[in-house]
Amino acid sequence: MELKICLIGKGNVGTCFLQLLKEKRHMIKEIYNCECILVAIFEHDGAIINKDGIDLNELLAKSANFRKNLFWKKDVKAKGLISELGINLCIETTPTNPNTGEPALTHIIEALSNNIDVISSNKAPFFLYYKRIKDLAEKMNCFIRYEATVASCVPALSIKRNLIGNKIIRIKAILNGTNNYILSRMATEGISFAVALKEAQELGYAEADPSLDVGGFDTAGKLVILANELLGWSKSIEDVKIEGITKITPQALELAKIDGYIIKHLAIAEENNLIVEPRLVKRDSPLNISGALNLIKLQTKHAGSIIFMGKGAGGLEAASAILNDLINIVIERNKIRHN
Ligand SMILES: NC(=O)c1ccc[n+]([C@@H]2O[C@H](COP(=O)([O-])OP(=O)(O)OC[C@H]3O[C@@H](n4cnc5c(N)ncnc54)[C@H](OP(=O)(O)O)[C@@H]3O)[C@@H](O)[C@H]2O)c1
Repeated sequence: MELKICLIGKGNVGTCFLQLLKEKRHMIKEIYNCECILVAIFEHDGAIINKDGIDLNELLAKSANFRKNLFWKKDVKAKGLISELGINLCIETTPTNPNTGEPALTHIIEALSNNIDVISSNKAPFFLYYKRIKDLAEKMNCFIRYEATVASCVPALSIKRNLIGNKIIRIKAILNGTNNYILSRMATEGISFAVALKEAQELGYAEADPSLDVGGFDTAGKLVILANELLGWSKSIEDVKIEGITKITPQALELAKIDGYIIKHLAIAEENNLIVEPRLVKRDSPLNISGALNLIKLQTKHAGSIIFMGKGAGGLEAASAILNDLINIVIERNKIRHN
């Protein structure tokens, strides 16, 4: 089997994915009998397209100078071209636009409409138009995978396939490492929100404009995807009650501490409600994680609670989730071919 791939967005995650593909493609060929051929890489200002396959060694050796590649064409856009490339997998890693989901939404719709499987690390199309995308994928008999959109490398979405004999009834999660870092530092050092935020920015955890993180919007988007996937809901970001962490004071944290509690920024899905807000958590609760980690606690019907924890961000971490999605699609396509 040949897997002809196009990558849209050669930033941090996209480049890490190419590195992993270079490392793992021989293993994929050997174990899954699948030749991965990278046919196109799109950036915002042009593309490298080679239908015979882009030389990954040469490309990655050039690093940031990839626009010097022999096959680089300026001003070529993915939109309108995805169906012309003869590919069977489109990987979308463009930046998140929380208001429109673009340009990723258009890329994903175009790929699926042309019978091309999709993997995305871009969460906006999914927290805005989850049902539309899933319905289209089903109609076109395509695979659509987006493990990296929630908690990056933590297998928060694919766990569903391993819990088919159980039922997930409630989710409680910490889905934003920046916010968890800020609250952890405020609690342990007694520093203000502003000081902890500045520290998070200096360490590269928080963006220059941190409003989507500290305002709770980023967490809400991930919660929508998690709840839709694991609980079978069809919600969008508008259905989430959102409160950020900006009003939390060191005094509030101190008072909580005296009573044996800590304040955590939680994402909760229960009884048809989606809530993102600061909540009191017992100090000995598993939800009391510190630093920039993510944690997901699933309450199940037949097996109590199941907890995942890990790095919720990082180019390589997200790329590893993309590679998992890719191999899973190869396995599914192999099964279909052999039936
Ligand atoms: N980084 C992480 O830890 C992480 C984890 C999980 C999920 N994600 C998600 O994964 C996606 C990529 O993240 P990232 O960290 O790799 O971001 P990034 O470094 O900004 O990479 C995005 C790349 O897409 C390019 N791009 C912009 N518009 C494009 C267009 N229309 N067509 C083709 N390429 C376009 C950008 O080019 P220019 O910069 O030149 O405009 C940039 O090279 C985001 O949606 C992010 O939320 C990231």
